[in-house]
Amino acid sequence: MKQLKGKDLLSIADLTSQEIQELLDFAQQLKAGEIAPKCDRVLGLLFYKASTRTRVSFSVAMYQLGGQVIDLNPKQTQVGRGEPIEDTARVLDRYLDVLAIRTFAHQDLETFAQYADIPIINALTDLEHPCQILADFLTVKENFGSLAGITLTYVGDGNNMAHSLLLGGALTGMNIRIASPQDYLPSPEIVAQAKQLAGDNSEITITNDPIAAVENAQVIYTDVWASMGQEDSADSRIPIFQPYQVNDALVSHCDRDAIVLHCLPAHRGEEITASVIEGQQSRVWDQAENRMHAQKALLASVLDA
Ligand code: CP
Ligand code: NVA
Repeated sequence: MKQLKGKDLLSIADLTSQEIQELLDFAQQLKAGEIAPKCDRVLGLLFYKASTRTRVSFSVAMYQLGGQVIDLNPKQTQVGRGEPIEDTARVLDRYLDVLAIRTFAHQDLETFAQYADIPIINALTDLEHPCQILADFLTVKENFGSLAGITLTYVGDGNNMAHSLLLGGALTGMNIRIASPQDYLPSPEIVAQAKQLAGDNSEITITNDPIAAVENAQVIYTDVWASMGQEDSADSRIPIFQPYQVNDALVSHCDRDAIVLHCLPAHRGEEITASVIEGQQSRVWDQAENRMHAQKALLASVLDA
């Protein structure tokens, strides 16, 4: 995908609808072993938050492309001791070919992108998680053949996952419904942007009613009730979010062939029950695997491998 060469991915909305579709096609070819692009480049991982899937899937994808990975633990790099992002970004730019960053403030990611010319990839911020979306949509495509016209209902906190699903879904013609408690709705700016991107092609629905939101949906999605950095409010959120648990009763309101997704890590008994995550409709392990294929497609594209 030559048109992505050298580009950043800070928001899923940095991609066009066509670019998302082409990345998913590319990822499917990679997953099927039909192609095996090679690139002798170096990926840096600068993660200020814990990660299993993103860290390992990016690393394995890069190794399989023939490249190398440097894990830049902020606790062992000067940026963690207060070296300005502007300086760190300009230095890392001289060594690395691509840099994936997981951090808190989206603005910090944007500062890295402003000061480094190499591709900067959002590996999760408090605002968005675009790499997860590519894997999620690959999983939807594998199950339903295409994205346009599919209704995806996200039940839970109006967080980074909800934001990226709203924007990515709007771009690809999916109907996106978000059901959250009133004080935990997604950002009004992101909702407005999603509605603008959706135009007349798809419906964006924001509600407090989880049961109405899952009626006739093909995909039910949930995520933790307290994201990384919100641990202090985790206990107080439990009673507020209890009516938004994805359990057998809620899933019984969906289509029988609906699938259940979760970006993981999951808290069984909180946002999702064990019976649902381990049940027949769950696709969470395929979804986790797809992180690797989708990110390999992304890396090969931004590095023009
Ligand atoms: N879904 C996801 O990003 O998982 P990790 O936090 O383990 O990377
Ligand atoms: N919303 C979660 C996603 C984890 C992959 C968080 O930000 O912690």
